Amino acid sequence: MSAIRYELIKKCKQTGARLGRVYTPHGYFDTPAFMPVGTQATVKGMSPDELKSIEAGIILSNTYHLHIRPGEDIIKEAGGLHKFMNWDRPILTDSGGFQVFSLGDFRKIEEEGVTFKSHVDGSKKFLSPESAIKIQNKLGADIIMAFDECIPYPAEFHYVKKSVERTTRWAKRCIKAHENPETQALFGIVQGGMYKELRRQSAYELLELDFPGYAIGGLSVGEPAEEMYEMLECTVPLLPEDKPRYLMGVGSPDYLVEGAIRGIDMFDCVLPTRIGRNGTVLTSRGRMIIRDALYARDQSPIDPDCDCYACKNFTRSYIRHLIKAKEVLGIRLTTWHNLRFLLNLMKNVREAIKEDRLLDFRNEFFKNFGYN
Ligand code: GUN
Ligand code: ZN
Repeated sequence: MSAIRYELIKKCKQTGARLGRVYTPHGYFDTPAFMPVGTQATVKGMSPDELKSIEAGIILSNTYHLHIRPGEDIIKEAGGLHKFMNWDRPILTDSGGFQVFSLGDFRKIEEEGVTFKSHVDGSKKFLSPESAIKIQNKLGADIIMAFDECIPYPAEFHYVKKSVERTTRWAKRCIKAHENPETQALFGIVQGGMYKELRRQSAYELLELDFPGYAIGGLSVGEPAEEMYEMLECTVPLLPEDKPRYLMGVGSPDYLVEGAIRGIDMFDCVLPTRIGRNGTVLTSRGRMIIRDALYARDQSPIDPDCDCYACKNFTRSYIRHLIKAKEVLGIRLTTWHNLRFLLNLMKNVREAIKEDRLLDFRNEFFKNFGYN
């Protein structure tokens, strides 16, 4: 028995997007879902109650960071990640496969695993399929990720082919190392760079391993949007209908809607929290740099269409002041709003799927946001 179950509720007749629900040991979440990122066992600036108030159904955390600090044993002793951070809804942990490539400097990739330097104290660290799974078993998230190789963009065909084959061998080692398949669902990660043939090869190899869910990795790494959509279009149709599909590291509003249209069920991205901390907010009329002098005397809310705490209680003028003065409340409010904006966008996407009008929704949303 798998730790999770995916229920396909319906497909949108206009687009083929899927409305679904994923049941986990910590309750269910509705899909398509956006997962706020809580890298260090906290979604920066947001308490668990606040996350619930904006209807976050599942959050993501990172093996790499928690391994380095405070260490998985401390979290295990606390009763696992849910208890440690007081979040009782589903959690997904990424394997560290991506972070060692993006954060750890001095990395050496070998068949056995990856050696890298800690971004905290420069000490030498090693992650392998076995250790990434062991750490995730101790953390205790509902969904855990295979340890994969995330390649840079662009990359040569031959290199990517070798990498895909290594990611498959690592995936097999992850399954073997996984001690809690009944309480933690291990997802495989399809790689393959920007080569359709290699995406298909990766998908076929991982399908044989019968994971309870599949992620698509190595996208949104600097390639043009069209290229990412092509990769999704050649990969998603190969994946099983009765399991969730997760597009990793994707979270701009256009990618979320286009991903859902192409059959993706789960997304995560630091975008809303990161841009919030720099004073940029997402609104139904596009991105807005709230620090701009333009808003110094603007007494309207960030987004008049938004129901979040920031928009219900504060003006652009005040939030701009807080951000410029580097007050903590400023980044809390922009983060709060941005997360609510994306969670609400996903809610609207689910509603549109239910009513077979996701393409109409997409066109209207893109027009207002300023995409074309
Ligand atoms: N986050 C964003 N992209 C990736 C990826 O390709 N692999 C992993 N493990 N995490 C990611
Ligand atoms: Zn708001």
